[in-house]
Amino acid sequence: MTAARAVRSSSYMHWAKTQQAARFNLATSGLGNLSLRDLRVSLDDLELTFGGYGYEPLKQALAARYRVDPHSIVTGAGTSFANHLAIAALIKPGDEVLFEEPAYEPMLSTALYLGADVKRFQRQFDDGFRVNAEEIDRLVTQQTRLIVLTNLHNPTGVLTDESTLTQIGKTAERVGARVLVNEVYLETLFEETPRTSFHLGKQFVVTSSLTKAFGLSGLRCGWIFAEPELAKEMWLLNDLFGVTQVHAGERLSVIALGQIQEIAAHAKALMDRNRKLLNSFLDTRDDLETVRPPFGTVMFPRLRSGESSERLCRLLREKYETTVVPGSFFERPAHFRVGVAGNTDEMETGLERLGRALDEVH
Ligand SMILES: Cc1ncc(COP(=O)(O)O)c(C=O)c1O
Repeated sequence: MTAARAVRSSSYMHWAKTQQAARFNLATSGLGNLSLRDLRVSLDDLELTFGGYGYEPLKQALAARYRVDPHSIVTGAGTSFANHLAIAALIKPGDEVLFEEPAYEPMLSTALYLGADVKRFQRQFDDGFRVNAEEIDRLVTQQTRLIVLTNLHNPTGVLTDESTLTQIGKTAERVGARVLVNEVYLETLFEETPRTSFHLGKQFVVTSSLTKAFGLSGLRCGWIFAEPELAKEMWLLNDLFGVTQVHAGERLSVIALGQIQEIAAHAKALMDRNRKLLNSFLDTRDDLETVRPPFGTVMFPRLRSGESSERLCRLLREKYETTVVPGSFFERPAHFRVGVAGNTDEMETGLERLGRALDEVH
C-alpha cells in the first residue's frame, strides 16, 4: 500500500474542481447548490464572531434532529473536514485501517495522508456492492484501529443495513477498533432515512453534513458524532486545525435546519423524477450493467465490454459537452458514476448524449 504521507492531494477533488463542469453535468452527487436567497434569512440573523467549542444553538439543532447528546457532537467544515478531524483523532501514523473498496478517494487519501496502514475489504459488483461483514471479520487483526465505510456507498448508492453494521460493530469491539461511517448520503432516503449508526454502539463514529441531500454544500455545515470523551479529544485536536468555525456559517446552518423539511420535499421530488429517467435510460442499454438502488443520488454503471470508461468519458466531455465521473477515480475503470440530483432538463439531454457517445465507442 502507499507509504505514509506519500499522498498530499486528491486527484478526484482536483478533477471535480477543474474538469467536472459542463453544459450537461451528470457528474454531481448532491442536490444543486441552493442560493442564499432560497433561505429566508436577513442580515440581522447573522453575526461575525463567536469562538468557543461549537455554537450551542447549532449543536442543539443537530442533537434534536439526530437524537444525539450535544456532548457527542463536533462541528466542522463539511463532511470533508469532519473526516479529516475524525481520522486524525482516531489513528496514529502506522495504525492499521480497514477501508472499503471501491472508495471515495478524498477520504481514503486523507487516511493515507494521516499515515494509515490501509488494508481493503471488497464490495463486489456481483454481490450488489454489499458490505460483507464476514469478510471484515476475517480481515481485522489485533492491530486494526479503524474500519471505514460510506453509507450510502459512494460511488454505488448502496445502503448498508443496521444488522450488517451491528455485526461490523461487534468485530470492531472484539479487536478494540472503531467504525467510522460517512453518512453524508444517508439522508437522501428522506422520510425513510434509518437512524444514524452512531446509535449502534460506542465504537461507532459518524460523519455527515448538509451538503448532499439539501444542496447546502456552501454552508460547510459538517459534523462528527462520537462518544463524549472522544468528541472532546476532537474539539481539542481542532485547536491545531481550524480552531474556530465561521460563525455566520454556523448561524446560517441553524436557519437552514429550521427549513429543512421544505428543502427535503423539493430535493426528494427532483431525485425521484431523475432516478426514473436514469432507470428508463438504463433499460435501453444492453452495453451497460448497473446495480440500481431505489434511492440515493448516484449509480455506477459498468461497461459490459469490461473496457475502461476513459475513452467514453473523454468523448462525452469533448464532443457532447456532458460529464460523468470516470470510474478510475473509484478504482473501477470499467465503470462511471452518474448523478440523479441535478437539473431534470439537463439530465434528460445529458442522458441522450450519453447514449450517443456509448453508441460511438462501440
Ligand atoms: C462520501 C463523501 N464524503 C464527503 C463528501 C464531501 O462532502 P462535504 O461537502 O460535506 O465536505 C463527498 C462529496 O462528494 C462524498 O461523496
